[in-house]
Amino acid sequence: MIGIFDSGVGGMTVARAVETLLPGNQIIYYGDLARTPYGSKSPEAIIEYSIANTEFLIEHGAGIIIIACNSAASVASDILRRKFAVPIFEVITPAVERAVSSTVSGNIGVIGTRATIRSTIYEQKIKQQAPEFRVFSKACPLLVPLVEEGWLNARETKMILRKYLTPLKHKQIDTLVLGCTHYPLLKDLIGHRMGKSRVRLIDSSIEVGLTLQKYLTAKPAIHETIQRGNENKYFVSDMTKAAAATAEQIFGRHIDLIKV
Ligand code: DGL
Repeated sequence: MIGIFDSGVGGMTVARAVETLLPGNQIIYYGDLARTPYGSKSPEAIIEYSIANTEFLIEHGAGIIIIACNSAASVASDILRRKFAVPIFEVITPAVERAVSSTVSGNIGVIGTRATIRSTIYEQKIKQQAPEFRVFSKACPLLVPLVEEGWLNARETKMILRKYLTPLKHKQIDTLVLGCTHYPLLKDLIGHRMGKSRVRLIDSSIEVGLTLQKYLTAKPAIHETIQRGNENKYFVSDMTKAAAATAEQIFGRHIDLIKV
């Protein structure tokens, strides 16, 4: 099974991308709703939760892990890779690769939670590949609650986006990484604000799905070990109506959340 974890249900954007790009491969998802949000937590807490989430998924049959949460990926990826034997994928590296190969001007913007932006992981990874590129990062802590409220098209959301994105616009970026699980749901508004023809948006949920697709094609022996089937399971550590509504919004259909 492909194990995916996130701080909550936002990471279902990754599950949706995996479902679309790798149909028939069984997904097991764990959303840590009891301890969400991760974006405002310390690296130590996020690492501890990420280890527990990975253990849960492996115990329940995951043969591959995807860290869907940018905040977790930014501080816990290396530790999880050292600790667990299964292949571990995360949303940051594929998004960086796409951003580096897409930009023409070398001016790349990154938006994410406070934890992700504070880690400077995107900047480090972009500079490793292209030291001459300029990276402009902006923490956007209000966007996750707005998405969770379902305010995907609200006037207030547009105003807040304007406030967050205008400084990036002034930096003449031509590529913007959506470095958070929730931001793909605001893609249209963000694209509109940045200028769709001027700025390419990098959706890390799609990029990690494409990376996994390539990996499994290149490694048929590993692909064989992943249980097939369409009965994806979505576990959560707490259950709220709002989370169920967000899950439904992401998939466009009802999702049975199983509380553990
Ligand atoms: N999943 C988190 C991320 O991608 C956003 C929500 C949270 O802060 O927990 O960074």
